[in-house]
Amino acid sequence: MTKNSAHQADRPSIFAPLDCRIEAITELTAQEKLFRLALPAGAELGHRPGQFVQVSLLGYGEAPISVSSSPTRSGCFELGVRRAGSLTSALHRMQVGQKVGIRGPFGRPFETEKMTGKDLLLISGGCGMAPLRSLIQYCEDRPELFGRLSILYGAKSPADLLFKDDIRLWEASERFACSTTVDQAAGQSCYEGQVGQVTRLIPALEVEPKRTVAVVVGPPAMYRFVIDALMRKGLGQEQIVVSLERYMRCGIGKCGHCTIDHLYCCTDGPVFWLNEISGLPGAL
Ligand SMILES: Cc1cc2nc3c(=O)[nH]c(=O)nc-3n(C[C@H](O)[C@H](O)[C@H](O)COP(=O)(O)OP(=O)(O)OC[C@H]3O[C@@H](n4cnc5c(N)ncnc54)[C@H](O)[C@@H]3O)c2cc1C
Ligand code: FES
Repeated sequence: MTKNSAHQADRPSIFAPLDCRIEAITELTAQEKLFRLALPAGAELGHRPGQFVQVSLLGYGEAPISVSSSPTRSGCFELGVRRAGSLTSALHRMQVGQKVGIRGPFGRPFETEKMTGKDLLLISGGCGMAPLRSLIQYCEDRPELFGRLSILYGAKSPADLLFKDDIRLWEASERFACSTTVDQAAGQSCYEGQVGQVTRLIPALEVEPKRTVAVVVGPPAMYRFVIDALMRKGLGQEQIVVSLERYMRCGIGKCGHCTIDHLYCCTDGPVFWLNEISGLPGAL
């Protein structure tokens, strides 16, 4: 058993899902919805930014989904879910008041204690904004902990940008420097952000390498280019955090479905410092 699964073993919801009520559903894009969930008896999920839960629906099995809201926002928690296959499509058909099973929270979180006092570059692509939003909200609610906060977010098109309402608030907030970019914006006259891949936003950033940590969450193709651009800014591997996705079954280090070389993505990750995985074949 890895060290993260050891501390999870005393949680009641590690094996048995808890019934959570859907309190609200918000359409984020044509493919993604945000589900606001409440645990029984007003209990708190007790997660940290970067962790995931196993969502279960009878007849459909389970799927790992990152928690999109910060633990600093109590009462409910939120999951941003893309309609990808059978379980997530069934979830998208559900209504407010229905119940879903939740196990967790699982996995290694973003280690905010190691980011305290640092400037943070919070970089995401596509669905990567789902887990990163939890950390962004955490930074918003604990402003005294961090230095300058920059959000860089890239999506395929303006219609694919997740959390558009949050983005407007982050852009207006003095706390964040927030830039969005899309691969294509043809015909989208009301889009005011940039066009091009998220990597293109990095050279213009003012970075003090010694006091900066970058957190990168996105599709596999994005990592190599973003990491190269960050290294050109003077960041070392020990200053770059990534969150990885693997096929998962148990979520608790038992089944071996999620291996990255000798590591389990579900318990040793999904969050890793780059220097922990950069030499491992197939990690990125
Ligand atoms: C740690 C972690 C966090 C995640 N967080 C989120 C999240 O916040 N929001 C979200 O929408 N999705 C998230 N995912 C992905 C999500 O778990 C899958 O899309 C989901 O399992 C699909 O379940 P399904 O039954 O609907 O689809 P299935 O019928 O199981 O699969 C549909 C398609 O998705 C592919 N797929 C399934 N799982 C994965 C995976 N792990 N990686 C790549 N492709 C996959 C399948 O190959 C298939 O092509 C996360 C995955 C991991 C491992
Ligand atoms: S999903 Fe990681 S060991 Fe089972």
